[in-house]
Parts: sequence; structure tokens; C-alpha cells
Amino acid sequence: MVLLGATGSIGESTLRVLSAHRDRLELVGVAARTNHARLAQIARDFGVKHVAVYDEAAGAAARASGAFPAGTVLRTGLPGLIELAQLPAADIVLVAVVGTTGLEPALAALAAGKDLALASKEILVLAGKFIMAEARRHGGKLLPVDSEHSAVFQCLEGHPQAGIRRIVLTASGGAFRDWPHERLAHVTPEDATKHPNWSMGPKITVDSATLANKGLELIEAQWLFNLRPEQCTAVLHPQSIVHCLVEFTDGAMLAQLSPPSMTFPIQHALLHPDRAPGVEPALDFTRLLGLEFRPVDELRFPCFNLARQAMVAGGIAPAVFNAANEVAVAAFLGGRLPFLAIPRVIDETLQDVKHFEPESLAAVLEADAAARRAATARLRRHA
Ligand SMILES: NC(=O)c1ccc[n+]([C@@H]2O[C@H](COP(=O)([O-])OP(=O)(O)OC[C@H]3O[C@@H](n4cnc5c(N)ncnc54)[C@H](OP(=O)(O)O)[C@@H]3O)[C@@H](O)[C@H]2O)c1
Repeated sequence: MVLLGATGSIGESTLRVLSAHRDRLELVGVAARTNHARLAQIARDFGVKHVAVYDEAAGAAARASGAFPAGTVLRTGLPGLIELAQLPAADIVLVAVVGTTGLEPALAALAAGKDLALASKEILVLAGKFIMAEARRHGGKLLPVDSEHSAVFQCLEGHPQAGIRRIVLTASGGAFRDWPHERLAHVTPEDATKHPNWSMGPKITVDSATLANKGLELIEAQWLFNLRPEQCTAVLHPQSIVHCLVEFTDGAMLAQLSPPSMTFPIQHALLHPDRAPGVEPALDFTRLLGLEFRPVDELRFPCFNLARQAMVAGGIAPAVFNAANEVAVAAFLGGRLPFLAIPRVIDETLQDVKHFEPESLAAVLEADAAARRAATARLRRHA
């Protein structure tokens, strides 16, 4: 397998799964943006020959470092990631690069006939139509890594599409689910990057606190499972143990449960359709285990509502939502935007960018760039 985003939170969990299943899985390529020191260590530990560093300056530093084993092929930039995604030795490519940089590598992997394990939800939100078409054209499997989508995938296996009434993704509610609304005006990046249940990268942790993450996941689910917007819903579930509920037309529901660790869905994607012992203990029913479900308070989580509206509008709206969210979250993390201004920037950007149905990937990328420009301009008003 090839792992894009090897040095991040998903990357590190994937390495744990790989370490436990060296008899079944072999890592042949790894990529990151700048962290070449960690890539060199992974290359040594896993005997990886192909490495890509997205950032050119970091790539030059990696070459000069002498830290990579002899014989390592070091590539840089987006072309480097794309070449890695098409390595003849790889059967499966796991894309876990934060944001949308993984889009072209993901399409390249599918075009080369690889299976695609997808953690980067932003890619499906941006270009779901084109990713799904490429997967169908070349016959590659699309394996969800996001825990909720892995859960839906597992619950749906063997069930005909016509029998699905709706899916219900669970949301922990993030870092501020129990904070009084008045306190939210003073949230700092440090507050927002402390998740109560999951250990994740900074962008997705902020997205969890605003529930933009759940909105992105509804759109992701719509593409992965070929559902209508009204079939994709969410519920708050503070324990993060039930990852989804699937309701069938007869009213029966199936749920998928596992402890809140990404090693479970990652292993499922990488070994599918096989099962093997997990790297962490399963749920322990000898102890009290409470499971609560509450409706999502849409006033408290305006980003969720905006994502839903974008999903219903379709066309480029989800891409615009995603781009505006990325710009706003980066500004918040950089101390340049208050927390409560994140949904305002998204809302205004959705209104600024002209709506249309994209017929090509180029048109989506153009809409994405226009939305980033519009959102950046909006930042100044809310700083
Ligand atoms: N963490 C989770 O539990 C979780 C769960 C579900 C889905 N996801 C999704 O998985 C993706 C990764 O999330 P994460 O939490 O693992 O993020 P993270 O901890 O911030 O790690 C991001 C990884 O992507 C690499 N990267 C960033 N920009 C890149 C670029 N332009 N080219 C190549 N590599 C690049 C980083 O390299 P450097 O270290 O060099 O910067 C790092 O390896 C996101 O799309 C997220 O929504 C995450």
C-alpha cells in the first residue's frame, strides 16, 4: 500500500495497523507535506523505498539530510504525490492528506486501477461526482476510512439499496458541546483543538467543534452510498461508540459499535473483506456502558445547517462550503478570526459565489479557487 499523509494522526494510526499485520500489508510509498524527519524514520522502520515530500523546500532539506536509507527514491510536489499514487507495486492507496491536495493523487490512483482508501473527506465533498465516476470506470474499490462511513459500509454490506430508508451518522458534539453559548465568543484555538473523545489533527478537531465535520460527512456519505440528501442525517452521541445507524424501509436499524479509535476503521478498509484481530481491545461489557443520543441543536451548530443547505443545493455549493470552511478554520487557528465568525464567513461566501452545476473537474477547481478568494476577502470584515 501507499500512504499519503503518513506523518499525521490518521497516518500514525495506519502505521500501528501495518505493524500488527506485516504478514498481510506491505508499505511501499509514504508522503507528507514537510515532516521529512518522520518520513525518514518510517522509511527505515518499514523498509519503504518511495517517498514524496509535497513542500519543495522541505524536499530539498530531506535530500540534504542524509537520513533516508540508501536507494530511497525521493519525489517532491504534487507530481511526486501523483507518481506515488500510481506506483506499480501498490494495490491500495490510502489518502489521509488534510484538505483537498489529495484530490489529483486519488484520481490518479483510481485511473491506475488501484483501490482507494479515503480518509480525506474534503475530496469527496469537492469532487464526489468525478471520484465516483473514476472508480466506476476503472473498477477500483472505494473503501471509507472515516469511522462513520466505515460503519455505514459495514452495516450496508449485503443489503439491497432499495431497502435503505436513511442513514444516521453520530456526532460527538466536539469540544464545546456542553459550553454555554456566551462562552463561545471567547474560544481560543487551544480550546478548540481539545477533543473530548478522539485524538485527531487540528483542522478536523475544529471542524468537530463547529459540527462542520458532520456536515462534510453527510455530503461524503451521499456520494459513497448513492443517497439523496434527505436520506443523510445525524444525531449527537457524546460517547462516540456507535458510529452510525442505518434505518431500513421496514423500520429496523443496524448500528456499528467500536471504541473511539481510528485503528478500527483503518484496519477494516485495509483488510477488506477479511477480518483479523484488531490492534486495540474491543468494547468491554463487563463495565457499565451508557449510550446517549440527542438531536443536533442547529442553532448551536450553524455550520452543520450550512453544510446541509449546501448538500441540498448540490452543484458547486458543497465545494464552496468546503473551501470557505478551510479558509475560515485556517484563519481561526492562526488567531486571525474569532470562533463564532467561522459560520458567518461560510454563509457569506456561499452567497457571494455564483451557483452552477459543474460539468468538469476543471470547473469545480475554478469554483473552489473563487470560493477561497471570496472567503479570504470576507475574513477582513470579521477579524
Ligand atoms: N484524525 C482523524 O481521526 C480523522 C478521522 C476521519 C477523517 N480524517 C480525515 O483525514 C485527513 C487527515 O486528517 P489528520 O487528522 O490525520 O490530519 P493531520 O494530523 O493534520 O495530518 C495531515 C497529514 O497530511 C500531510 N499533508 C498535509 N498537507 C499535505 C500536502 N499538501 N501534501 C502532502 N501531505 C500533506 C501532513 O504532513 P506534515 O506532517 O508534513 O504536515 C500529515 O501527514 C483529513 O482530511 C481528515 O478530515 C481524520
